[in-house]
Amino acid sequence: MSPEVIIRLKDVAVTTGGRDILSIDRLSIARGERVAFIGNSGSGKTTLMRMLKGYVIPSRGEVEVLGAPVPLGDRRRMRVYHRQIGMIHQHFDLIGRESVWQNVYHGRLGYLPFLNSLFTRFTGADLQICTQAIKEVRLEEMLLRSARTLSGGEQQRVAIARTLAQEPTIFLADEPVSSLDPALAEDILDLLVSICDAYRLTLLVSLHLPELARRYADRIIAMEGGRIIWEGLPEELSGERIQEIYGRDNHRGEENDRLERASGFHMAWQQGVQGHPVPSS
Ligand SMILES: Nc1ncnc2c1ncn2[C@@H]1O[C@H](COP(=O)(O)OP(=O)(O)OP(=O)(O)O)[C@@H](O)[C@H]1O
Ligand SMILES: [Mg+2]
Repeated sequence: MSPEVIIRLKDVAVTTGGRDILSIDRLSIARGERVAFIGNSGSGKTTLMRMLKGYVIPSRGEVEVLGAPVPLGDRRRMRVYHRQIGMIHQHFDLIGRESVWQNVYHGRLGYLPFLNSLFTRFTGADLQICTQAIKEVRLEEMLLRSARTLSGGEQQRVAIARTLAQEPTIFLADEPVSSLDPALAEDILDLLVSICDAYRLTLLVSLHLPELARRYADRIIAMEGGRIIWEGLPEELSGERIQEIYGRDNHRGEENDRLERASGFHMAWQQGVQGHPVPSS
């Protein structure tokens, strides 16, 4: 039996200021798949994720998620849709003055009837789901700490728990580790991947570092100028391929090189791609 397709794009474009910032002929993602998006800054990774979340409206084409078109324009159905699509970001987006517990509770807001959400009245089931989500990210000891006092890694764990509390089907992670040092980046990706496996969530993750994509994804998609320029298995992402993906735009190639060095992944990447040089100029 072929796997269930959970995301299907056909001839999709997002246009702004007369320019296509996203242009995808075809893309299919199966339920439970773990797909990493790589590519230079400005290649369209965030735009693609925001479109799947329903925040960016395509100017043409078909976007089918969970077997139906994204219900843009239908507020009631959109509320249900948003619950099914979880999203975390590079800068965590927590409410700093609120506690870990309160931040995770926000993941349940989409389930509350409107009046209850005004007064934030939660049920016993909401409590249980949030408690479990906090346990999954191992933050039980920090329930009452305000988010602003947490380290970057801890903040991203809260954001993961908040998303999990939302009980999504698809987990979008847009540069989830770009603000973290390399060791922490691996901890967070280990956690994210194990949670997605345990809950059978489909994971789409954008990453600045191809080495991380190779390590954590089932499939890698490279983007440039809003288009998919390559896709393949992690073992197919060779050093030459990485150079092609990042080296087309010399200036941005330098920028990626700089980021690699700054993050300490330079050596790991060099070793990981069997000695092929990091694209630099
Ligand atoms: N609201 C907007 N209005 C105009 N242009 C936009 C808007 N949002 C994104 N863009 C443009 O779309 C292109 C793709 O941007 P996007 O943020 O999706 O890239 P990205 O791959 O996520 O980059 P990064 O790696 O830096 O996060 C860029 O050229 C960007 O300037
Ligand atoms: Mg981005």
